[in-house]
Amino acid sequence: MPAPINPRLARLDDYPFRRLDRLLDGLSPASDRPIVMSIGEPRHRPPPIVAETLQRHASEWGRYPPTRGTDALRTACAEWLTRRYRLPEAMIDPGRHVLPVGGTREGLFAVALAAMPETRGGRAPLVLMPDPFYQVYRGAAVVAGAEPVFLPCTRAGGFLPDLDAIPDGVWERTVLFYLCSPANPQGAVADRQYLARLIARVRSAGALLVMDECYAEIYSEVPPVGVLEAVRELGGELANVVSFHSLSKRSNVPGLRSGFVAGDAVFLEAFLRMRTYGGGQQPLPVQAAATELWRDDAHVEENRALYRRKFEAAADILDGRFGFFLPAGGFFLWLEVGDGEQAARNLWGTAGVKVMPGGYLASEAGEAVRHIRVALVPPIDVVRTGLERLAEALG
Ligand SMILES: Cc1ncc(COP(=O)(O)O)c(C=O)c1O
Repeated sequence: MPAPINPRLARLDDYPFRRLDRLLDGLSPASDRPIVMSIGEPRHRPPPIVAETLQRHASEWGRYPPTRGTDALRTACAEWLTRRYRLPEAMIDPGRHVLPVGGTREGLFAVALAAMPETRGGRAPLVLMPDPFYQVYRGAAVVAGAEPVFLPCTRAGGFLPDLDAIPDGVWERTVLFYLCSPANPQGAVADRQYLARLIARVRSAGALLVMDECYAEIYSEVPPVGVLEAVRELGGELANVVSFHSLSKRSNVPGLRSGFVAGDAVFLEAFLRMRTYGGGQQPLPVQAAATELWRDDAHVEENRALYRRKFEAAADILDGRFGFFLPAGGFFLWLEVGDGEQAARNLWGTAGVKVMPGGYLASEAGEAVRHIRVALVPPIDVVRTGLERLAEALG
């Protein structure tokens, strides 16, 4: 007899990177200098303070870390939120409103397990999410025993879900609403009014709004609005809202696996209880390094300046073609190319440039299949070459 496997796992598609490997299988990259822009892995230099702090705290590898994080880390996160979103001093209590996560991916997944009832309105609970979407939302919904509901995010709709198009019958069964702002892949930012309406709707449904704001610090000019700003304007009460933030993109340390969640104190207490049994912990030296990073904004400004130059280069090379637009946040281009899969194969085979077909990030045949996602993560000269090759190959 084979070992038992949770039948829900059979409902998980292959992750987009696997699908891309299969799509490109057997094709050799055209160039001897292939350029990979398919994966959103930041490649700017991590700040030196990371290695210094890990070294200084090396003796703490020998200690079990607290799941709820050190006071210093939670305080640094709360102070950063207060600075970044101009919140009143007392709004974020580091003792009740902040918990570290081992990268937001694991937190975004685990939050569904902590929130999910067996049923909602007598039927399977629903988890609402933008479409296209970060794949973890769907995986979390499925493994937690819920039905994912995909909310189309179209170019015409500003790449945000149309809240008015969600039927009351769906709200009645909704447990979680994931929203990514700035969005991966299109970089759209939900404004205050949108967020305020969403919060009100989620609250009246007795659901939880899970904001994925891991790209909050990557923008060219205007800092993207955060959900906590909308919460502040609604009176500062954090009920039914959690917001995830990450150091991966902000500080170029995707390997550190460090982020945090802030929001609803009652939910976070339950989340912590679950995590003390089975959650990932951040090692103490990592928590110390994360504390230093959240305290410092200078390295983030330098990081932003590097991305800004890449977007300027992209505008020079692509402007007016492939539906090019400058995103409000994040480090992706979302280009309209006819057939995303065909374009990805063509680019690899004839230009040695690897990109992600938009359809691999989406539920099914919406407009995403006509797009590719291009991550501006390599150094600027490589990005420039990559985009020049792309423009020529897709002409
Ligand atoms: C939209 C989105 N959310 C969350 C994550 C996870 O980031 P991390 O786990 O490194 O914090 C990513 C990473 O690519 C992402 O694109």
